[in-house]
Amino acid sequence: MADNPVETLLQLAAGHYLPRCLHAVANLGVADALDNTPQPVSALAQATGSDPAALDRALRILSANGVFEFRGGCVVHTPESLMLRSDHPQSMRSLVRMFGLPAFWASVGQLEYSIRSGQPCADKVLPGGIWGYLAAHPDDSRIFDEAMTSKAHGQIQGVITAYDFSIFSTIVDVGGGRGHLLQSVLSEAQQASGILFDQSHVIEQAAGMASDRLRLQPGDFFNDVLPAGDAYLLMEVIHDWDDTASKTILTSVRRAAHEHSKVLLIEAILPDDPGPNWPRTLDIAMLAIGGRQRTLPDYSQLFSQCGLAMTRAIDTGAGVSIVEASPIQADQPPNGAVARL
Ligand SMILES: C[S@@+](CC[C@H](N)C(=O)[O-])C[C@H]1O[C@@H](n2cnc3c(N)ncnc32)[C@H](O)[C@@H]1O
Repeated sequence: MADNPVETLLQLAAGHYLPRCLHAVANLGVADALDNTPQPVSALAQATGSDPAALDRALRILSANGVFEFRGGCVVHTPESLMLRSDHPQSMRSLVRMFGLPAFWASVGQLEYSIRSGQPCADKVLPGGIWGYLAAHPDDSRIFDEAMTSKAHGQIQGVITAYDFSIFSTIVDVGGGRGHLLQSVLSEAQQASGILFDQSHVIEQAAGMASDRLRLQPGDFFNDVLPAGDAYLLMEVIHDWDDTASKTILTSVRRAAHEHSKVLLIEAILPDDPGPNWPRTLDIAMLAIGGRQRTLPDYSQLFSQCGLAMTRAIDTGAGVSIVEASPIQADQPPNGAVARL
């Protein structure tokens, strides 16, 4: 927030130019063109096929926000710009590019429609909604799946440290993308085997993950029977959907589960804190596609309508919580006390 209301509103009203510069610089591969040696903008412009003066202006505003730094007339990396490199172990380049995909950006332009109607504006501009669009556009789908992998990198270590997966024999990752979470979980839970369940075009991209411990199962979680398992992982899946669709998915999980199975949602929980935070921003991205971020009481209520009871929520310290639920047994009261760890 700026010091005065006029500046605050100016920055907010025109704030979208800043992420557009970030998207462009990620698309152009500027961070890849810069190694440990400081470079003049002209060299970066030549390496990326961009206009030197215009690139200079884009890098100036990015550096004012911590992405790249100007030092002695040259550009150097900051920790943030380093993560835009394709070869960074926790590269966020694809994630940044995903938010800037022309089709996604077109839906951001229609956000007022969502705010007026409560309906997903993405459905107005993307034929078949976001998932139908991605299924029909392999290049964008590749960026999306890479983005999910890179987004999850930062979260997975927290998840596998926070939860003991070794108690399970069969772990099903529902909507698991390219299997990045399941693979890490299986490396911790050496006795377990896993089933990666996702749409067929996503599973095709995950072919290299298959092993004698990791089975790939293409399918549609709205229409197909889910595999039997002791644990069901759903990482940032339920937040994509409204309550009605979420109940369909969770009811299907409940149907496939046995009485001692655990359902583990991995989600960024909407905090009580009124200040700016990532879950609140993500909630607007979800509004655009028809989903929502939720509070813990929201999840507890959702579970209770699907034959599940929330048992605990574990903050992984990596921006996401593991929200655990168990099937409600016939003799169990519908809403037990929930431990928050
Ligand atoms: C936001 S991504 C999350 C991916 C992964 N769990 C992660 O956190 O990195 C949502 C996933 O749900 C999958 N998905 C969407 N609709 C689906 C459907 N009808 N059936 C199965 N998977 C679906 C997408 O393909 C995508 O991989």
